[in-house]
Amino acid sequence: MNRLLDQIDKNKLPQHLAIIMDGNGRWAKAKGLFRSMGHESGTKAVREITEACAEINIPYLTLYAFSTENWNRPKLEVELLMRLLVSSLKKEIKTLNKNNIKLNAIGNLEALPKKAHKELLDVIDKTKGNTRMTLTLALSYGAREEIIKTVKEISDKVKKGLISPQNIDEVIITSHLYTRDLPDVDLLIRTSGEQRISNFLLWQIAYAELYFTDILWPDYTKKDLFEAILNYQNRERRFGKTSEQIN
Ligand code: IPE
Ligand code: IPE
Ligand code: MG
Repeated sequence: MNRLLDQIDKNKLPQHLAIIMDGNGRWAKAKGLFRSMGHESGTKAVREITEACAEINIPYLTLYAFSTENWNRPKLEVELLMRLLVSSLKKEIKTLNKNNIKLNAIGNLEALPKKAHKELLDVIDKTKGNTRMTLTLALSYGAREEIIKTVKEISDKVKKGLISPQNIDEVIITSHLYTRDLPDVDLLIRTSGEQRISNFLLWQIAYAELYFTDILWPDYTKKDLFEAILNYQNRERRFGKTSEQIN
């Protein structure tokens, strides 16, 4: 493990790491447990991975915790996930402050149950002064919903004469997204073997490196994360240029 850590180039870390935490249900099923146990176990991986990112100084970590499509799951599972969110927030606030981590959230947060929404805003407020890392939870998040919201807001400003249509550019669009305060994603990891994006950060991953692993989220460890980062560091990000231009 320390050997892995030593191999990581601290000057070439992803500035923004995003993770699609998938596989909780299958993890539980394989053990003959309820899906809820998988979600509960997944929160341990959230803690381990968050701490690992803080330890190596990744400034932005974004975790896909609940999608707009996840509202279509059985009512009981949705309720359970929302309760788990509240209890995790309550439990983790101390550690977030101890580790100087700022909590942020993206998504249609008003759609969350009142209690979860309130707890979330409370932890965001109580950690807003922290500077070591920004941990963003994507909750009731869907990239298409985010784009629709952005188009509506910009249209409204055009109508009011605040923006002229010819001036709409990447900067204006970026500044209306939920992620306006975050840099583009450098590395996107998805666990559980699925190789799809599932409506996560479509605009923001335009040039992200994608990394898929078969490991189920509750089993995902610091060592697995370091392996993904090493893999990322061995890639050449060309952004449309030639290899010769980069080197
Ligand atoms: C990810 O695990 C957690 C959420 C989507 C909330 P899943 O619950 O999707 O687990 P699988 O994909 O069924 O194994
Ligand atoms: C994506 O996982 C959403 C989260 C991890 C929160 P899903 O398990 O909902 O994705 P699909 O439906 O299998 O693509
Ligand atoms: Mg899944």
